[in-house]
Amino acid sequence: MSSNRHGLVILISGSGTNLQAIIDAIKEGTVEADIRCVISNRADAYGLERARQAGIATRVVDHRQYDSRESFDAALQQEIDQFQPDLVVLAGFMRILTTEFVRHYRGRMLNIHPSLLPKFRGLNTHARAIEAGEAEHGVTVHFVTEELDGGPNVLQAIIPIEPDDTPDTLRVRVQRQEHFIFPEAIRWFLSGRLKMEGDQALLDGAPLPYSGIQIRSGGQQ
Ligand code: GRF
Repeated sequence: MSSNRHGLVILISGSGTNLQAIIDAIKEGTVEADIRCVISNRADAYGLERARQAGIATRVVDHRQYDSRESFDAALQQEIDQFQPDLVVLAGFMRILTTEFVRHYRGRMLNIHPSLLPKFRGLNTHARAIEAGEAEHGVTVHFVTEELDGGPNVLQAIIPIEPDDTPDTLRVRVQRQEHFIFPEAIRWFLSGRLKMEGDQALLDGAPLPYSGIQIRSGGQQ
């Protein structure tokens, strides 16, 4: 799998549908990169199986084997750095990261979070959006900084919340958007269009708005 193409390392904890969307985008040629490794903190994450099926190297760094967040993150960093990625992609990686780790990958680590950040940081975002009576909900791709779910936004997909939505129906519709916007943001980064300078995300040299670029239809409704 060695080539001159850009390299990604993708971190997961679960089913890996976002990982699959990135694998598919690479196969289709819309993202030009190699996934050099998929790393999970859980050996039973189905995303590892998706990676194996696509012929991608996998590693497990089980957080339960480490007695502190610092030692886990140090081990994780060591694994990642062996692959010298241009970009680290958090695709459903359910761990809070230490400041040292985040600083090490500053400006070259993207996360996807299922809400319209800065609204609903943390967990259970779909239920919380419904409970709060929001008219709209969605998903955000952002650079990772020391603040949990707080780095500068890059791209947001917005969908309406329907009166009969449940957290599950909403999650399904939000995920469809995730699979569209995450490869898009990765493409922007790898082509040099997207950068982080200081705490600011830039696209084609221009500062992005606080919300990031907002799209109301991912084209895959
Ligand atoms: C997604 O909902 C993503 O927004 C969140 O974790 C979930 C991962 O899903 N950060 P999957 O493993 O990619 O299917």
